[in-house]
Amino acid sequence: MIRLLVNRRSIRKYKTQKVECEKVDKLLTAALLAPSSRGRKPWGFLVVDDEDILKQLSQAKEHGSQFISKVPQVIVVFGDTMVSDMCVEDCSIAATYIQLEAERLGLGSCWVQIRERLTKKGTSSEGYVKALLSIPDHFMVEAIIAIGYPDEEKIPHNLDELDVHKVHYNKYKIMYPGHY
Ligand SMILES: Cc1cc2nc3c(=O)[nH]c(=O)nc-3n(C[C@H](O)[C@H](O)[C@H](O)COP(=O)(O)O)c2cc1C
Repeated sequence: MIRLLVNRRSIRKYKTQKVECEKVDKLLTAALLAPSSRGRKPWGFLVVDDEDILKQLSQAKEHGSQFISKVPQVIVVFGDTMVSDMCVEDCSIAATYIQLEAERLGLGSCWVQIRERLTKKGTSSEGYVKALLSIPDHFMVEAIIAIGYPDEEKIPHNLDELDVHKVHYNKYKIMYPGHY
């Protein structure tokens, strides 16, 4: 597992080839297996591989979403606010599961934040995505997860550079020598 986590990096350049259906299904299986508050599973997952819609999705934010126009497909992660008040947490975990399964399958992925973000015009990114994809009002949109075969190489994370000072024992700022 740690090896998977070390190797996972955010990929923003992808080959044009689409991801096979079986692999997309595995990503969705991973998402659907995520834990959720009270087991309510408030999430929804919308796979987009239509080039025109991807181009429009790339305009969802002023910064950080433009690369989506050249991604072969994305999975939009959204939550039903009428089912749970923990949509943010539940959708975040499900999105993370998608990213980890993508890494396991040799795919690249990148989280594009939508919740609490704005378009270039200063309107809500969530509203923009919901209107574009016909997602009803009572859903919140957490993120767009870009998926595809990487067309860039990134250096893996380094276990020697972990922020181990962020670990505390029993009370804030108590460190255990010889441990993290
Ligand atoms: C909550 C969250 C929001 C993010 N939003 C964006 C985004 O909008 N656009 C983007 O290109 N990357 C986004 N990222 C990816 C981060 O920039 C990336 O994870 C971080 O720089 C660490 O790099 P790594 O994923 O390669 O380890 C987001 C990641 C997270 C977890």
